[in-house]
Amino acid sequence: MTSSTSSPSPRIALVTGANKGVGRTIAQQLAELGMTVWLGARDPERGKQAESELRDLGLDVRFIRLDVTDEATVARAAEHIGRESGRLDVLVNNAGISRPWDLPSETAVEDVQDTFDTNVFGYIRVTNAMLPLLRRSDAGRIVNISSVIGSLTAAAENHDPTGAFPDGQFPVILSHSMSKAAVNSLTVMYANELRAEGILVNAVSPNWVPTDANGHSGILTPEQGARMPVRMAALPDGGPTGTFTCSDATGDGLTLPW
Ligand SMILES: NC(=O)c1ccc[n+]([C@@H]2O[C@H](COP(=O)([O-])OP(=O)(O)OC[C@H]3O[C@@H](n4cnc5c(N)ncnc54)[C@H](OP(=O)(O)O)[C@@H]3O)[C@@H](O)[C@H]2O)c1
Repeated sequence: MTSSTSSPSPRIALVTGANKGVGRTIAQQLAELGMTVWLGARDPERGKQAESELRDLGLDVRFIRLDVTDEATVARAAEHIGRESGRLDVLVNNAGISRPWDLPSETAVEDVQDTFDTNVFGYIRVTNAMLPLLRRSDAGRIVNISSVIGSLTAAAENHDPTGAFPDGQFPVILSHSMSKAAVNSLTVMYANELRAEGILVNAVSPNWVPTDANGHSGILTPEQGARMPVRMAALPDGGPTGTFTCSDATGDGLTLPW
């Protein structure tokens, strides 16, 4: 009599913009859960360096070239992951740019266009290219990295629910805030489209963590900031979809207002 003792095959994840900052920490934590993680990076040198450092920790992390503004690299990445892994269980749309931090009256339209090309159109490009692979998973999960600055409610109330900024001093940054509001909007649209297929789609903020993007200021460590995105990437079947949450110091996470 034969017994089936083989361990289940590891879940397959892709994290965009994972050579540094929040994305790299998310990639590490997903791999520490036993996932095979495709580490997306636009620059091969930076991507391979991060891959090698994480593999030195014994993690199954594989660099893949992926510039979210470049349709051809996105298509090639989808093809490559399909060939090597056969499917995708988890997509973390993380790659983002956040400069310049200009007031609305001082913002050049070109800066808004550039920010949207990465932070919004990049998420759509990658999601649509990876969806055929996510549909081959029996438990597809999409995590869209957002920010409290994308919350229209928080901005309108001039109140930061994370507590990082004092009341009355909610950040006024046109391009970055608008791009994250759009990420929240597209998250709900995809969540509703994919709900019936069991693919869970959520917007998650790492909170404020020190990275190159913000001059290394923040109220959580990158490890704390990655916790909620990782939890939403590893949701069980029937878990929430179309939500907006944030990492916090307790590890429980916060629900953010849209
Ligand atoms: N840090 C925070 O406090 C904070 C708060 C809320 C939300 N977030 C969000 O967290 C995400 C990561 O930010 P971070 O703070 O970790 O910033 P970061 O350290 O600057 O990392 C950004 C990552 O995105 C990559 N990237 C940028 N443009 C790309 C493109 N066109 N194609 C592929 N990759 C690209 C960067 O690659 P290169 O190294 O090649 O530039 C880098 O790997 C962003 O979505 C950001 O909005 C961060």
